[in-house]
Amino acid sequence: MLTFAEKRTRSSDVALTGYHEVALQQLRTNLQLMDWRFGDVSDVGPILDFASGFGRMIRLLVVSVPKSDIWVSDIQADAVAFQQEQFGVHGIASTTTPEEFEPGRTFNFISVASLFSHLPDDLFTRWLVKLYSLLNPGGLLCFSVHDQVLLGEVRALPESGIDFDHTSENDALDTSVYGTTHVSEAYVQRAVQRASGSSAFIRIKRALAYEQDMYILQKGEASAAAPFRFEYGPWGWVDQARMTQPGRLFLSGWAATVDTETSITSVEVRLDGKLAQVCMPNFQRDDVRAHFGNDAFGFAISDSSGTTRIACDSEAFSGCGWECHVPCDATNPGHFLEVTAVASNGWRCPLYLGSIENALN
Ligand SMILES: C[S@@+](CC[C@H](N)C(=O)[O-])C[C@H]1O[C@@H](n2cnc3c(N)ncnc32)[C@H](O)[C@@H]1O
Repeated sequence: MLTFAEKRTRSSDVALTGYHEVALQQLRTNLQLMDWRFGDVSDVGPILDFASGFGRMIRLLVVSVPKSDIWVSDIQADAVAFQQEQFGVHGIASTTTPEEFEPGRTFNFISVASLFSHLPDDLFTRWLVKLYSLLNPGGLLCFSVHDQVLLGEVRALPESGIDFDHTSENDALDTSVYGTTHVSEAYVQRAVQRASGSSAFIRIKRALAYEQDMYILQKGEASAAAPFRFEYGPWGWVDQARMTQPGRLFLSGWAATVDTETSITSVEVRLDGKLAQVCMPNFQRDDVRAHFGNDAFGFAISDSSGTTRIACDSEAFSGCGWECHVPCDATNPGHFLEVTAVASNGWRCPLYLGSIENALN
């Protein structure tokens, strides 16, 4: 993921920022779902991060959950070995064929970030069947997909409800089993029915990195500790960084949160750990608003009685633009620059982490 982002952004610091930004957001999503279902993250029991990569989320999860409760699995053996060595979690080698995947145990919580968004039709349902079968009663399976809306005007979704393109970010994987996939909600619902025998699911639109939708299945009827609740948290980006004159750095970008009871209270800029500037998002960014479109965020809660839809803050992106000038030492472009969006609930989102030099564009 990181290598791909590095090629695309042409800056290792921009790529690393994106990696950490998504890691933190994935962690918050998983912790909220664990809290919701089990009451407390320490009561979850065995957790599987399937298709974990090199542990983008696991490196943070090990801070909150005992390592002895965490299993990771990936088709890339070196990714599994890396996490066993670095984070002390259990590792399981995965397989290309779902029916051959036998971890020898079951789990209370299975997280699958960004695998179903790459699977062809046949494997999509077969992996869902396999992973659901590995859940203990009352357990949760959470997986992300690219919704059809992300196809935009590139091409229409086929009637089957799934579009599979034989290209991906990972050159090491066979493109007949790992490409780029877009699906409709109806397609996922059919796959869920095949895997679980029920049409019950929760869909959180754009829950992963303000992009991929998250679907949540629960095995059996066990009741959650509290009504379903989810906060996306803050999100944003630094779009421009340039020196307007020696010792004066200009930064601009956007920061927003779609959570209805939360707002962005500031964008903080730090140089070498010291607060150097604070600004507020306060001007229109019609491009950001247009990028997401209307009704891009919210939840669908589906059970035998039908589907309830709950929308999120549709005005979140009005006034999300921010800019500021930061005094800095012009002789030292290696200063460590941190730009962070801060939300009113105290959640923070890194917008840039790295040297000034690597931020300049
Ligand atoms: C887009 S990456 C996501 C990695 C990680 N979940 C994250 O969010 O950073 C997809 C991952 O799926 C893994 N993968 C592909 N096919 C797999 C399979 N059959 N079993 C397990 N992992 C697989 C890839 O090796 C890759 O690490």
